[in-house]
Amino acid sequence: MKKINVGLIGYGTIGSGVAAVLAQRKARIKELTGIDIELKYICDKDPRVKADKRLLTRDAGRVLNDPGVDIVVELIGGIHPAKEIILAALKNNKDVVTANKALLAEEGADIFTAAKKFNREVRFEASVGGGIPIVKAIREGFVSNEINEIHGIINGTCNYILSRMSDEGCDIKVALKAAQKMGVAEADPRLDLTGIDSAHKLILLSGLSFGVFPKMDQVYCDGIMAVEPRDIRYAREMGYAIKLLAIAKRAQGEIEARVHPTLVPLGHLLANIKGVYNAIYVKGDLTGETLFYGEGAGKFPTASAVIADIVDLAKQISNPTNPINSTNPNSKLKIKKIDNIRSRYYIRFSALDKPGVLANISGILGKNNISIASVTQKEERIACLPARQANAVPIVMMTHEALESRMRNALTLIDKLPAIKKKSVALRVETL
Ligand code: HSE
Repeated sequence: MKKINVGLIGYGTIGSGVAAVLAQRKARIKELTGIDIELKYICDKDPRVKADKRLLTRDAGRVLNDPGVDIVVELIGGIHPAKEIILAALKNNKDVVTANKALLAEEGADIFTAAKKFNREVRFEASVGGGIPIVKAIREGFVSNEINEIHGIINGTCNYILSRMSDEGCDIKVALKAAQKMGVAEADPRLDLTGIDSAHKLILLSGLSFGVFPKMDQVYCDGIMAVEPRDIRYAREMGYAIKLLAIAKRAQGEIEARVHPTLVPLGHLLANIKGVYNAIYVKGDLTGETLFYGEGAGKFPTASAVIADIVDLAKQISNPTNPINSTNPNSKLKIKKIDNIRSRYYIRFSALDKPGVLANISGILGKNNISIASVTQKEERIACLPARQANAVPIVMMTHEALESRMRNALTLIDKLPAIKKKSVALRVETL
């Protein structure tokens, strides 16, 4: 029986989960695959780490330079020294498993180029959607499909916060505090709240699906900090939930890649993904609609994904075949600029309640070729304004499909009207 040796670098939450499961399920994996997977090293530079002393080392070089190690698992996160560790592993003829979405999204070109040069593989199932086997599904399950669109709820922190805001009507600060208390959100949740974590994952999904890894500055990225409970309420009255969606889709021969709070029809499955759960909705030309749902983070869901990659590579090493390679940035498709996308929009104006205001707003929209689908003026005052402006009220609109650049132009002009008392809010709608 073939033995495959693994060197684990990074013994935090996920790393300790991987080591525990590899130990506990060793016999099961051997029985199912015929391969004996041996954890040869646990490497962590933190001297407080408690792990099996026979395996523990502080020196990553020992792992990287041991010719007996077949697979290096990088779980330290961040860009440096994770990148150098992965490049050294590839150069030393080792395959790599990583959960490091930030690294692959930002420096993936160097890493995949090195993998190709040294004829090795880099697997990253745990980088997107935690325990959901979405990478394998897209690489293998959809191999004969043209994937047309992906809509993902791929940040559990944001989904938890939006779910609480929706269920309780609380504002984002209250929901974030609750998330931190529950251990759902990081102490520093900036990468999550700004949408950057979702954008990293979207880059990988786009690379797998369309053969093009957008650069970070090509992904339009807008987080959830500006979402107000009243927008969640008004959207619901119109038949929509607000979700932070990561969207990658083909449109007029280009790829749209964007992350932003999005109105999703209440009847759609994605609108009903609650709490920390992730869901990735993939439309293939042969499969039609599919939905992958599960825990997008956490020790054991993520360890499950890492081990699936280790087992896959171990099978590949034991019995080399041609892997399905969909990680080469080889597509000629261009990334569409956000100004050129078309979408329906939810818009909320904070306007004085007096004659002619609506006519001025709709006039500007009309001049920008934006057609209004519905409009409601709410009989609520906008509490945050000074008393002398207290008769400002929300006007909520749904538009028909419009060009983003025209929408931005219209909002700039509308926000200059004397009757508009606060920056207008515009959220994109996906009809799915
Ligand atoms: N912080 C991420 C989330 C998990 O909240 O979904 C790791 O990708």
